[in-house]
Amino acid sequence: MLIKIKKGWELPESAATSESTFLNRRSLLKGMAAGPILAATAGLVTGCDGESSQTAQAANNEPDPSANLYPVQRNLRYRLDRDETPEELATTYNNYYEFGSSKNIWQKAQALPLRPWTVKISGMVETPMEIGIDDLLAKMPLEERVYRHRCVEAWSMAVPYSGFALKDLVDMARPLGSAKYLKMVTFKDDSVASGQKAGWYPWPYVEGLTIEEATNELAFIATGLYGKPIPKQNGAPLRLAVPWKYGFKHVKGLVEFEFTDKRPVSFWEEIQASEYGFWANVNPEVSHPRWSQATERVLGQDERVPTLLYNGYGEFVADLYSNLKGERLFI
Ligand code: MTE
Repeated sequence: MLIKIKKGWELPESAATSESTFLNRRSLLKGMAAGPILAATAGLVTGCDGESSQTAQAANNEPDPSANLYPVQRNLRYRLDRDETPEELATTYNNYYEFGSSKNIWQKAQALPLRPWTVKISGMVETPMEIGIDDLLAKMPLEERVYRHRCVEAWSMAVPYSGFALKDLVDMARPLGSAKYLKMVTFKDDSVASGQKAGWYPWPYVEGLTIEEATNELAFIATGLYGKPIPKQNGAPLRLAVPWKYGFKHVKGLVEFEFTDKRPVSFWEEIQASEYGFWANVNPEVSHPRWSQATERVLGQDERVPTLLYNGYGEFVADLYSNLKGERLFI
């Protein structure tokens, strides 16, 4: 295995993982956690995940059958305190480890076929079901929302997503009263996503919310971006947007929604729970174990800006956490 460590650009060098960390598979996992999300801090390049190769998988360029659904009407309840990020930045600076650990994966992500795409609703629900993405889109009331997005790596953006409230999907699923959590799962197919050949990651990418979080009005399933179908690199055909939480919760390329009474262990939590927890609510006063969360670099701007508690969405979500004082709400 070839391992190359490059200096990151936006985080203090002290946050980068030292080469000696990468001694064996176990330390490699810890080292990855020590760098997430790693590429931003240390730029891990391996011979196993295809990152060293510039050759992208053949692009899957079929026209998106949902293109005629967009643009949709903007919901003006959700307002920005800053300018929208230029589209070309938000769609070329991405985290999507399935396609590699650098920010520059947008071309590789074009290999992902978007049809057929079946979404499974499983677990503690009245009637488990499988539904094709186009049938799901036809059922859901689509709207546009501009949301801030704050990555745990301390960069941020503000983008117009189109999609539907996650609550609408929960209502359609009719979970049993005993369901406490919603687990969301990304596709798994290493023939198109070369990053998934890296066996030391716990694929597939998984994230979870409590049912109360999932039915909060802010929780959104994004199926569009900038008035068009959401690009593959941003999570097509559907990804989560929970803007009060760090970006790693915003799971992409969703194929399954499982209702459960067990708290899901998410992808990054499995790798390094001390740095990436279940709650991951944005808080400028609670540092990541290796860097401050007090400020953020807005994509496309030179100056850092202060980070806001719950990423500025406290009026919508703070009540969700008022009885959870013993929990690590901000990691
Ligand atoms: N979802 C999957 N399946 N795989 C990933 O690597 N990265 C997460 C999140 N969702 C990720 C994912 C992280 S760390 C961030 S910051 C956001 O996606 C980035 O979303 P964007 O590329 O649309 O900005």
